[in-house]
Amino acid sequence: MLEPATPDPGPAAMDRRCFCASALLTGLTLACGGGGGYPAPPPTSAPPPNGPLTTSDTKAGLLATPDGTVRDYRNLGNFFLIRDATGIYAMTAVCTHMGCTVGAPVGAQITCPCHGSQYDLNGGNTLGPAIHPLVHFQVTEASAGGPLVVNTAQTVAASTRLA
Ligand code: FES
Repeated sequence: MLEPATPDPGPAAMDRRCFCASALLTGLTLACGGGGGYPAPPPTSAPPPNGPLTTSDTKAGLLATPDGTVRDYRNLGNFFLIRDATGIYAMTAVCTHMGCTVGAPVGAQITCPCHGSQYDLNGGNTLGPAIHPLVHFQVTEASAGGPLVVNTAQTVAASTRLA
């Protein structure tokens, strides 16, 4: 008759091992999940409406503003409309880490309140934990000289500008 190389610890020992592994994982989760002093993340943002959204800005009006002007449309479709030296662009306000809504830009910096990810004014990551840039959306005029329309269903390259 063959005997196991080591005695079978039995179900009680297995339960202890599982308990120890579970306790270790829980401890690691608690230790790592706090986000470096940031509060636990609030529920993720509601997904922005998916499609064309009409803003209250016009191309001429926004191009007449200084570089770095930001229009906050988080209440309309969770995006920003921004004017820089080369034109106008729209960018999501949804953090690429876990989907929280980022804060309004302060200077040239955008910060997520959930875990502290930071982005520059073009959406590029400057600080994690997010590792992907903020997505840009297509911007058009509803009609010549009319209000700007941001299509949140149509992403574009981060270099795309309406000029
Ligand atoms: S959701 Fe985690 S940093 Fe924004």
